[in-house]
Amino acid sequence: MKVVAFNGSGRKDGNTALLIRRVVSILEAEGIETELVQLAGEQIRGCTACRTCFSTKNNRCVIDDDNVNTYIQKMVEADGIILGSPVYFSMMSPELKALIDRAGYVALANDYVFKRKVGAAVVAVRRAGAIPTFDAINHFFLISQMIIPASSYWNVGFGRKKGDVAGDEEGMRTMETLGKNMAWLIKKLKA
Ligand SMILES: Cc1cc2nc3c(=O)[nH]c(=O)nc-3n(C[C@H](O)[C@H](O)[C@H](O)COP(=O)(O)O)c2cc1C
Repeated sequence: MKVVAFNGSGRKDGNTALLIRRVVSILEAEGIETELVQLAGEQIRGCTACRTCFSTKNNRCVIDDDNVNTYIQKMVEADGIILGSPVYFSMMSPELKALIDRAGYVALANDYVFKRKVGAAVVAVRRAGAIPTFDAINHFFLISQMIIPASSYWNVGFGRKKGDVAGDEEGMRTMETLGKNMAWLIKKLKA
């Protein structure tokens, strides 16, 4: 059992990373292997709508000068996918959006290759815009025919400066419950 997590923040090891790491620590304690990929500093191009993936049907995007194909492969091999983002102007980061657009289109073109994997969204926010961001990530999971575990609140943590979110006790507790429910669900699906 494996979960791959992507931190879409432009800032490495910030609040989104802290939230994801809390979920991941629970998954590890439950015996699930995890990998965290941080997108900070990467140039990830957006989808060009060429639809080549619908003719090649090889689980790859025709754009091959960035890491998206490697990331698609990691998602294909995983039982669960965590997508984390800070809120930027009320939405996810452009890096995560580009990854979703290209991986998502490739998945749809390949008979919904992420179908029935478990997907969890994690959002770091200073004040406002967390719910639209959370919803947008979940819409990717839903159209991919993935299964979404719930938590005790929506998966959001509050903070501005690096590390602030550690002081959001309820947010961190929400991540722990998410980790437990995600592990429970993956084990049920693998049984
Ligand atoms: C370009 C940019 C736009 C932002 N827009 C918002 C926003 O719309 N709403 C908000 O509450 N916080 C906003 N923030 C604050 C971040 O969401 C917040 O600091 C978050 O904790 C950063 O997570 P990170 O440490 O993982 O990068 C913005 C930050 C940046 C850099």
